[in-house]
Amino acid sequence: MTTSVFSFAEAAEPAERLADLLGLTCQSVRVHGFPDGESLVRVPVPLSATTAILYRSLDHPNAKLVELLLAASALRENGADKIILVAPYLAYMRQDKAFHPGEAINQKVVGALLAREFDAVFTVDPHLHRIQDLGQVMHGIETVSLTAAPIFSAAIDPAKNPALVGPDHESRQWVETIAKPLGLDMLIGEKRRSGDRDVDIRFPGLERVKDRAVILVDDVISSGVTLEVTAQLLRDAGAKEIEALATHCLASEEDLRRLTMAGISKIRSTDTVACSTASLHIAPVLAEALKESRYFSL
Ligand code: R5P
Repeated sequence: MTTSVFSFAEAAEPAERLADLLGLTCQSVRVHGFPDGESLVRVPVPLSATTAILYRSLDHPNAKLVELLLAASALRENGADKIILVAPYLAYMRQDKAFHPGEAINQKVVGALLAREFDAVFTVDPHLHRIQDLGQVMHGIETVSLTAAPIFSAAIDPAKNPALVGPDHESRQWVETIAKPLGLDMLIGEKRRSGDRDVDIRFPGLERVKDRAVILVDDVISSGVTLEVTAQLLRDAGAKEIEALATHCLASEEDLRRLTMAGISKIRSTDTVACSTASLHIAPVLAEALKESRYFSL
């Protein structure tokens, strides 16, 4: 059995970092875009691998998902008998029920689609609410959910004694994992979202941030509104330095500028998604997990 990493152009750098750590080759999946919007996908042939690690984050998922399925099909047609999807950012996981009559359950649809095409799915900090385990939406395949928390722990200087702040109850899992071993103070907000860009947050114990360095920790920066509102509250409460750490940054440059205006002096995210904030590499976390997988073989 031979294994190789296959990457789309936009993820070449993080995919190569992963391949290096695994001692594997990294090959390119080429995409041609037709004038009518369709894509033609081509994998390198003859295929030297029987196990393919296909690397693609699913930000901008509507376009990327179709190309991903085409690449998986081309890999199988050309001799891959196992295909592992490494999607450091996995989309469509938050709509896990029909919140209003008539809505599709995106998580169920996309989970079933990926389970049909791949033998295993590796991802980082998936946005799960009502289920704990991706295996509940991707039946019959190996699913591995990793976390960026160890990368964040290593990126924090405990000598500054920062308070770690999570904007909502979902963020507690990351904040606790990081704060407890480092002996740092933590605050968790109570957030209510009433629209895409409309959130209201209150922080019990907010007075504790006065004159202190604060680090916001969250899984996703999407519109940025959650961190913007949090930063405004922290600044009003007298926090003296506000930084942010997020696993995935999907925000536009304009939204990131608003975060700076709100008083966040430094934003760092992992390179699960290409973004100007993506200074932290996720490859070591992925490599460690893949090495333990039953699919890994040199
Ligand atoms: C919510 O459950 C998440 O953890 C993030 O706080 C949220 O997705 C961030 O979204 P936005 O940047 O649009 O406020």
